[in-house]
Amino acid sequence: MSERLFIFDTTLRDGEQVPGCQLNTVEKIQVAKQLEALGVDVIEAGFPVSSPGDFNSVIEISKAVTWPTICALTRAVQKDIDVAAEALKYAKHKRIHTGIGTSDPHIKYKFNSTREEIIERAVAAVKYARRYVEDVEFYAEDAGRTENEYLARVIEAVIKAGATVVNIPDTTGYCLPDEYGAKIKYLMDHVDGIDRAVISTHCHNDLGMATANTISGVLNGARQVEVTINGVGERAGNTALEEVAMILRCHKGIDIDTNINTQKIYPTSRMVSSLMNMPVQPNKAIVGRNAFAHSSGIHQDGVLKNVQTYEIINPKDVGIDDNAIVLTARSGRAALKHRLHVLGVEMTQEKLDKVYEDFLKLADKKKDITDDDILVLAGADRNVNHHIKLEYLQVTSGVGVRSVASLGLNISGEHFEAAATGNGPVDAAIKAVKQIIKRQMTLKEFTIQAISKGSDDVGKVHMQVEYDGQMYYGFGANTDIIAASVEAYIDCINKFRK
Ligand code: KIV
Ligand code: ZN
Repeated sequence: MSERLFIFDTTLRDGEQVPGCQLNTVEKIQVAKQLEALGVDVIEAGFPVSSPGDFNSVIEISKAVTWPTICALTRAVQKDIDVAAEALKYAKHKRIHTGIGTSDPHIKYKFNSTREEIIERAVAAVKYARRYVEDVEFYAEDAGRTENEYLARVIEAVIKAGATVVNIPDTTGYCLPDEYGAKIKYLMDHVDGIDRAVISTHCHNDLGMATANTISGVLNGARQVEVTINGVGERAGNTALEEVAMILRCHKGIDIDTNINTQKIYPTSRMVSSLMNMPVQPNKAIVGRNAFAHSSGIHQDGVLKNVQTYEIINPKDVGIDDNAIVLTARSGRAALKHRLHVLGVEMTQEKLDKVYEDFLKLADKKKDITDDDILVLAGADRNVNHHIKLEYLQVTSGVGVRSVASLGLNISGEHFEAAATGNGPVDAAIKAVKQIIKRQMTLKEFTIQAISKGSDDVGKVHMQVEYDGQMYYGFGANTDIIAASVEAYIDCINKFRK
């Protein structure tokens, strides 16, 4: 019987810290339920003291989810721990995740403290959290750059104080796989009482080594891994759940397995990408669009003769089904409902009726409706409360002529119109918006992404606009790419602090 590795998913905490990827509580519940179906052991649901939104999300996720442990993050501060305990009150299985920086730069510059004082604060936080819950995880922030001997002293002290899980984050993504593995082994060999706690990995991908470091940690004794769907996370992201799960599934010799239902990996990846408006790079391992696409002649020839020539994973094992029913204008409500269910999206009959209506309109414009199209339609009501809405847009453009755009905006019920010329259709349309919304805003980033293949496809647009010293992120999706761009721009403006 294989040994068991616990999967701690932090998509909703570390993953959600990515600027522009914030989810509302309803979306977080949707992701949490999908993570439960996927089979994760622990869901880190938020950092309750950081905002009322995070506090509320931890409460609602605790109510919505049954099997996984719900975890809430804190600093080594009593107030944080009080608030986390309150947020976890409905969780059936609960964990407080508390900790403090242990590397010399953290001790000196962040806390202006000493090594001894940091140990005292760590111990006090763990003891305080144990007054509320049985399951307390301690993180030694920047453990990747913490000297092993001192780290072992910290870990020994917190286990003695009652920590049940000890998290060894490579916060800056600095470690080499051998170095990180050796760190875990050092703790296994030198910490008294290490058998009373589970060692957890938490690796960031700044040097592209998050998954390699995580696996090295597991090979050296860690039995929990902290991961996110699609590897989302600040900067270069966190370790990707799907990569760890499939490495262990493919390398049977490691003889360690997880509770992950791998067939739910792809739908979960699509859901998170769609809700966070965060495209998955096409060559991303396991879930990228090209992960199973054999394009070279030699590979295609081999795969046609026998898939084992070039394929180490059957795409069906991660939930990619080439034979999945493609929805068209003739598909009924039941087919749409079933597809949404497979993608992990449940909705009321009223909302389903509305999505079906939009689905038929889209199906009139394009032949085959893909999973991505459906997820965009399911999330289309995200903008209903926006006070600025695009009413119409007309653009003329071509080669050798300046583009002209005219558009109408509805701002809190009032109608405004403007027209402008520009260096291309998007430039003209944005200049027209700026004539109505007279603010000093600068477009900083503009990404257009066609969802899959055909020229009739729905295009997604991501934008970043700087206003009043702040960066705002917007998203638009439309079969008309100019309209999607204007929608993304307006989405940014709707988020400006008034
Ligand atoms: O990367 C890190 O150190 C963290 C901790 C807060 C667990 O995310
Ligand atoms: Zn982190």
